[in-house]
Amino acid sequence: MTRVAEHAARHSGALYQGTLFPSAQEQFIAEVFVSADEMGSWHRKGWLSFDPLTVADYDEKERVELLFIRGLARSGLSDAMINRMLSSLKKPYCYDPSTTSFSFVENCWISLPPERDQADVTNKYLDGRIENQDWMRCACCRARFPKLLKMPRTIVIDDKRLIEDYLPIVAISAEASREKSVRKGHISTLHLWWARRPLVACRAAVYGALVPASRFVPNGGSDEQKKSLGRANSAKFVKALCMYPGEPRTIQEAQRHILIAHADRLTQELADWKAGNMPKPGWVDEFKFSGARVTMDDIAAGRAPRPRVLDMFAGGGAIPLEALRLGCEAYALDLNPVAHIIQLCTLVYPQKYGKPDTSARGMTGPKNEKGETTWGGWPMRCATGVIGLRRGLGPRSATFIR
Ligand SMILES: C[S@@+](CC[C@H](N)C(=O)[O-])C[C@H]1O[C@@H](n2cnc3c(N)ncnc32)[C@H](O)[C@@H]1O
Repeated sequence: MTRVAEHAARHSGALYQGTLFPSAQEQFIAEVFVSADEMGSWHRKGWLSFDPLTVADYDEKERVELLFIRGLARSGLSDAMINRMLSSLKKPYCYDPSTTSFSFVENCWISLPPERDQADVTNKYLDGRIENQDWMRCACCRARFPKLLKMPRTIVIDDKRLIEDYLPIVAISAEASREKSVRKGHISTLHLWWARRPLVACRAAVYGALVPASRFVPNGGSDEQKKSLGRANSAKFVKALCMYPGEPRTIQEAQRHILIAHADRLTQELADWKAGNMPKPGWVDEFKFSGARVTMDDIAAGRAPRPRVLDMFAGGGAIPLEALRLGCEAYALDLNPVAHIIQLCTLVYPQKYGKPDTSARGMTGPKNEKGETTWGGWPMRCATGVIGLRRGLGPRSATFIR
């Protein structure tokens, strides 16, 4: 005797609702590829709960039962075997033929779980990654299955940056080689650092990484026109920005671009969090932010975070210096203690101890009464307290001890 497994053979009579336009027998037969003779024979054997000769309108219920029985009848099993198998099921035989099958191992009908939707699987996986704040895998998932992700799970859709699209490399390189020959007032004169990168190249990299590629694209015109005009506009601005030492007005404009782009990203984070797609951004509590959107003014006034730039291999500190210049919060790391002291002198002490000197030219500034330059003398004094200098050694032969 066959038995019906608990988990199995879901009777779907209730599932199949009547259709608005049931079919006549002729049309129905054509749809299910069954002849009237076959149907009659299956009915006589007791395998159909309806009489094909008397049914006027064929509905979903008849269709499901017929497809289920069709599979069995054409399986090659003997009638006796089919009778035995059907005896454990209740009529009408409304079992989904695509998920119901007979297990000869368990000797019962089983219902396979419905095939899981790819989008459903992807989104479940993504929920787990978001819960663990595993942004790297989220990004990979987004890249591989962009069309499957539920909307409005955005994880910042279309966030292509300028550096990924276009930078006027030739002009930046030309200015970078000119900068290399500057001897006076450049931070390279603070301490020799062989691997130092040109400031203008670092400025272009930081700016290009924080500003969207769409920044300079005009609204009107064909795609081709928009692309070429956008690139021409960005080339013009980036060329002007990446001049050494740089026009304060252009640098301020660049700061504005960066803050606007960052405010948009923070606003998007808020929206994603409020829509339940992302966890609460950490900065909301950090800055006690309660608004619905972030503006450039919020960031400038310290009510929301500035963009944070980390250079883990900062060497002479060119990248974090340019990040600071462009209004970001910069972090620099290096395992070399010499690089570390150069970074302190370049990035930290000017902000901590320096006073703006409007008459100072470049970073060296005018000499004081002791013959020290404004910016050249005090790092040694400051460094003595912070990292310690070996006693008795003059500044030229000083060994820094961390
Ligand atoms: C090419 S230099 C960086 C130059 C820098 N961009 C500049 O403009 O001066 C690379 C730096 O990475 C540092 N470095 C190498 N391995 C490191 C590690 N595991 N952790 C931290 N710093 C490391 C080196 O000491 C070196 O100063």
